[in-house]
Amino acid sequence: MQTLNVDLGERSYPIHIGPGLLEQPERLRAAIPGNSAVVVTNETVAPLYRDRLDAALEGLQVATVTLGDGERFKTMETVGRILDVLVEGRFDRRTTVIALGGGVVGDIAGFAAAIYQRGVHFIQVPTTLLAQVDSSVGGKTGVNHPGGKNLIGAFHQPRCVIADTDTLDTLDDRQLSAGLAEVIKYGLILDLGFLDWLEANMAGLRGRDAALLTEAIERSCRIKADVVARDERETGMRALLNLGHTFGHAIETATGYGTWLHGEAIGAGMCMAADLSHRQGWIHHADFERVERVMRAAGLPTEAPETLTAERFFELMQIDKKVVDGRLRLVLLERLGHAVVTRDFDPALLDQTLQAYCGPR
Ligand code: NAD
Ligand code: GLY
Repeated sequence: MQTLNVDLGERSYPIHIGPGLLEQPERLRAAIPGNSAVVVTNETVAPLYRDRLDAALEGLQVATVTLGDGERFKTMETVGRILDVLVEGRFDRRTTVIALGGGVVGDIAGFAAAIYQRGVHFIQVPTTLLAQVDSSVGGKTGVNHPGGKNLIGAFHQPRCVIADTDTLDTLDDRQLSAGLAEVIKYGLILDLGFLDWLEANMAGLRGRDAALLTEAIERSCRIKADVVARDERETGMRALLNLGHTFGHAIETATGYGTWLHGEAIGAGMCMAADLSHRQGWIHHADFERVERVMRAAGLPTEAPETLTAERFFELMQIDKKVVDGRLRLVLLERLGHAVVTRDFDPALLDQTLQAYCGPR
């Protein structure tokens, strides 16, 4: 097992990564300070892993909230369901909310924990690759609005993250690829050596080589923990973690949440960001092609949905949280392994990118 630390002063916390962690009840129990806990999970994950938490929760007042499965449940209504259980069970301020599942469960449960009685304890037990490399770390919680992705939320850091890599055994291949999108993102924005490593090991990663997957998770979490420690509230460099997201969120909103997986939308979105970076004259065409190649190797889409027009795509991009004072900011690649957050892109070139990716091919 590896333990990394997210260094946030008195809100610092460990990320435990490795096989068999759910078989070690003392690890979860040690992170629960009070005498009660509410487990939030979903109908797919519950039958697979919910009982693995039993030993750690023995003797506590416990409730389990089992949500429907999917991005379409990432709503205020679902948060309301969790709050109802907390209120009706008279769970107090020392309660711990435990998210057991992928990023959808983690984001919803974390938001409920952030707002119940102005904030109760929270633990992340991520069970997808995407959640283990990204969403469980860093304290972003929240839900979607019909008008835009992740528009409602709060920062609320967990007390610890327990990433049991054995849980990935039951994840299907499409979800594994979706998780790889966020892994590739770290290489593209900050670590060219990691990108090289991913390209060299992509077949093994998709073949679920346990050692390779664990290394990819550790390296991803190390980068994320470092960025979050430097810029917890995204006043600066944390926005780099959104490479491809302004494009990707537009795809998710346009197609209806859950039609495209988040990681798939981000994969196509990173190709679009790379395309614009090339049109800007920042990266070579060969670099753009390399981005497309690594997405394909990971099993991810490299094109936007045919049903979206450039005009509609542009409109949806304006809803992004990186719009400040009415001006869109984008994460683009100055070179591979080095991203920037910028308003200084040519709108005519953005239009060219959208025209190239949207509409029938
Ligand atoms: P998800 O939570 O929908 O999980 C994917 C699917 O895998 C679901 O059907 C789920 O039930 C199933 N599943 C989960 N664990 C499983 C397991 N071990 N075995 C079999 N099936 C399993 O999707 P995701 O990709 O984990 O997360 C995507 C969400 O995360 C999006 O809503 C995105 O906005 C959010 N996100 C948040 C952050 C953040 O910083 N908070 C970062 C990135 C993404
Ligand atoms: N996934 C983007 C962030 O955590 O900032």
